[in-house]
Parts: sequence; structure tokens; C-alpha cells
Amino acid sequence: MAPLPTIQFAALSTIPNEGALVIFADEAAEIAVQGLNAETSAQVSRAAKANEFTGKSGKSIEILAPAGTQLSRLIVVGIGKRAEAKKLNWLNLGGALYSKLPCADTKVAILTGACSGDEVALIAQGAYLRAYNFDNYKTKRKDGEKAPVAKTLSFVSAVDVAKAANDTFAPLKGQADGVLLARELVNLPPNVLGPVEFATRTKDLEKLGVKVEILSQAKLTEMGFGSLLAVGRGSEKDSQVVIMHWNGAADKAAQPICFVGKGVTFDTGGISIKPSNSMEDMKGDMGGAACVTGLMHALASRKAPVNVIGAIGLVENMPDGTAYRPGDILTSLSGQTIEVVNTDAEGRLVLADVLWHVGTTYKPKFIVDLATLTGAILVALGTEHAGLFGNNDELAQRITAAGLETGEKVWRLPLSADYDKLTDSKFADMKNSGGRNAGSITAAQFLQRFIPDNIPWVHLDVAGTAMDSPASDINTSWGSGWGVRLLDQVVANYYQ
Ligand code: BES
Ligand code: MN
Ligand code: ZN
Repeated sequence: MAPLPTIQFAALSTIPNEGALVIFADEAAEIAVQGLNAETSAQVSRAAKANEFTGKSGKSIEILAPAGTQLSRLIVVGIGKRAEAKKLNWLNLGGALYSKLPCADTKVAILTGACSGDEVALIAQGAYLRAYNFDNYKTKRKDGEKAPVAKTLSFVSAVDVAKAANDTFAPLKGQADGVLLARELVNLPPNVLGPVEFATRTKDLEKLGVKVEILSQAKLTEMGFGSLLAVGRGSEKDSQVVIMHWNGAADKAAQPICFVGKGVTFDTGGISIKPSNSMEDMKGDMGGAACVTGLMHALASRKAPVNVIGAIGLVENMPDGTAYRPGDILTSLSGQTIEVVNTDAEGRLVLADVLWHVGTTYKPKFIVDLATLTGAILVALGTEHAGLFGNNDELAQRITAAGLETGEKVWRLPLSADYDKLTDSKFADMKNSGGRNAGSITAAQFLQRFIPDNIPWVHLDVAGTAMDSPASDINTSWGSGWGVRLLDQVVANYYQ
């Protein structure tokens, strides 16, 4: 991982005179150059004119070695129309700002002008998220390219703003570290991160006070996870289930909320093998589990006053003489039988047992599951929205609203008895695929059969958003960490 910046908030005494300096320009007002010397101010005005820079959001001008200062550079970043700026704009501004800092700058001061403490904290979080880069396995650099260096970003503002920004940033830093953890897990190659290695990494959460319970393959066999275990049967790697417990509520026995993630550390398709084109992307088929792990990190870091269960099913789907096959009939943990018609529809088989287990064991207030479940969701929604399915309008509505707030957007698709019928089987209680049509919906219908007692439940199909989504202001990595900010916001808004 490239070095992450150190973030600090300082009260303005004098304008820094070394390293890089960033100032903001509001589209509606003058560039905030108060405090810069007259010579530099004039230089900024001339540069703005020469570049037709008017403070539009995302635009910037850069002045190297500005006259009358010891600065390496002065960067003026447009913030658009201040009055119209929302939370998300400030976050993205931070990311955009970070992208404009060349490698050589180690000391960067950002004059935050009229921004509030909350706004400054969001800008800082955006910069921190943008700084993540998965380069663990690069041993060579291009000619003349320098190794990235750790930066110190000082956000400089009035005394009370610096204090407020510092307070707001603490949980946002924990949240961002949760996002980066999720990205890292998605980016890691499948030879390095198998089910056991993934489970081992979740143990790190114990440092934050999370209780981590690892169910070994032997234990799962004893417990009867027949559906999940079938998927991992062709792999040399043992399957695992991890249950993470965060008991942050004052009443440790209060009913928990629950998040479940699909963690297929590599999905070849099994005997129903996938075409070789882009099969390497299936290292990201644990994006749901990565999100749940990152979310637990975020919640525990900010000591969220709520009881939470995070449960992930970790398997590798491989073809082998020992692999499960089309035609097999599995007995799931719930007792319901499943005819396998396609070994590439494995995610739902993994989730079936984990959903049933957490639903019956913890009787949670709700269950939200995340899974890179179907290619069909990419056909329907692309990389802009995750697919949302569920049995509870209130929960669906809350997640949708938090999606707009965080920019991690979801779009609801229908469930109904008629769709459910498509997964009926001639030989067993159900089959694991309803065919091509409405593929994402029939997958969700299958999951719903493993939600006990009609517990409020939402399924998020994140095949289009967890990995390989287009670069944004706050993310340039293949693994996006999608869902951590969304669900942390849902918890903060409604469940604590
Ligand atoms: N992991 C895949 C879904 C996927 C596809 C994720 C593309 C990310 C990008 C899943 O296990 C799968 O193979 N689904 C099948 C289901 C089908 C066999 C019913 C699919 O979508 O084709
Ligand atoms: Mn598959
Ligand atoms: Zn899969």
C-alpha cells in the first residue's frame, strides 16, 4: 500500500511559507487570497485570467514557486457554488485536491477559508480515501519515477473550526480505514488471500474490541452447513465462516443488527466452468465479505453504540474430482434441499447457510447481505447503482436514502411469488438457478428462502460496484470498498 497521508488540523496563525499551499476559490466570490502577499495575490489573479479559471468545482490552477514566498507551489482549487455544496461535494473535493499534489510535496497546507469543521473533516476524509493505491506487488518503477512519499496534510482554519474538524474527523478516519481494508481485501490476489487467510485477517479486528469467532471447516461440517461446504469441496483450501461481534450498545443483550457477506475468494465457476476471459476478476468475488469486514472496522473504531453481527462465508469455487457437480442435491443447514443445476451459481449456496445460521441464532432486528452475486446486475444497472432487493420497505427506504447521502447508490428491483416459482425444482425443494431471465431477481428469491421468520432483510447485489468500477475523485483502486460508507451511515442515521 502506498504511504497514507498524516492528517492534522491547525488553527491559522500565519500562512505557511514552505511546501505546497492549497487555497479554495468559490465560483460566486473572489479567490480567498486574504493573507497572501500582494505580489502573490496579483500572480493568482493573472493566472486565473490566463486560464479562464472561475472557481468551477474540479477545476484548478497551479503556480510554481510563487513570487515572494518559499512555497514549492500554490494550488487554487475551485469549489463551485458554496451555497449549493452538499456533504458529498466536500468529500469529492478532498479527493480531487489530493490528486493535484505531485509526488514531491511532503508538506501540504490547505487553507479552508469559510468552511465549517464538518466540511473540513469531509475534505480530509476524501483526500485520505484518494491516497490509497494498491501497489504491494510492484517491485519496479518507470524510468525517473520516484517512490511515493508520505505527506502531511495540514488543514488550516480558525481555532474553533480546527477543533470541530478534528472531532468530526476521528470517526471518519475509522470509517475510511474500514473502506481501505475492504479495498485491500478485494485487491489481494487469490493465491495470497484464500478463505483461511481472509479469516485470519479478520482477527485483527480484535484490537478494536470486536469478538471474532472462526468456524472451521470441521465445525461447519458438524453443524450441517451442507450448502456452503459443497461449494468449497473442489478446493484444496478449507472453507470458513467468520462471525464478528461488536457489542457497542449499553445493553449488551440488546437485539443485534446483522450484516452478511459473500466471500468467494476465487470463483472459477467450478464444473460449470467460466470462460477464461477476465476470469482473473473473480478474485474480487469476496467483495461482499470485504465490505462487512471493513464495516465492522468502521463501527468498532467509532465505538458505535449498537450491537452488530458481521458474518461472512469464505470458500473457493474450483473444479476438481472432488468438486460438487450439476445434478447434486444438497441438504442445507435449514433442512431445505437444493438441486444444483449450475456450479457457477455458488454465491447463493454460500449465503443460504450463513443467512439461516445468523437468522436463527441471533434473531436480529434486520439482516443486510452484500454479494457479488450476478453478472445480470451489471447488465441491468452497470456500475452506478447496486441492486437492492428486500422484504421490508422501511429498511429498503433507509438504505436508499443513505445511498444518496454517501454517493453509494442503490436501486430497488422487485421480488414476487411468480419470480420465486422460477427456482422450483423437479427433484428437490428448489434449484440454484432460475436461468438467464431476471437472473438477479431469481438469485434474490433464492436467498429469501433462507431468511427465517420473515426477519426484515435487504440483499445488495454488488457485482457491479465492489470491483472494477470507474475511478472517482475518492477512489482509483480496482477494489472500491463499496458499501462501508453506505452502511456505516445507515447505522449512524437509524440504529444507534
Ligand atoms: N461471481 C459471479 C457473479 C459476478 C459476475 C460477479 C461478474 C462479478 C462480476 C457469480 O457467482 C456467478 O457466476 N453468477 C452467475 C449466475 C448464473 C450461473 C445463474 C452469473 O451471473 O452468470
Ligand atoms: Mn459463480
Ligand atoms: Zn461468484
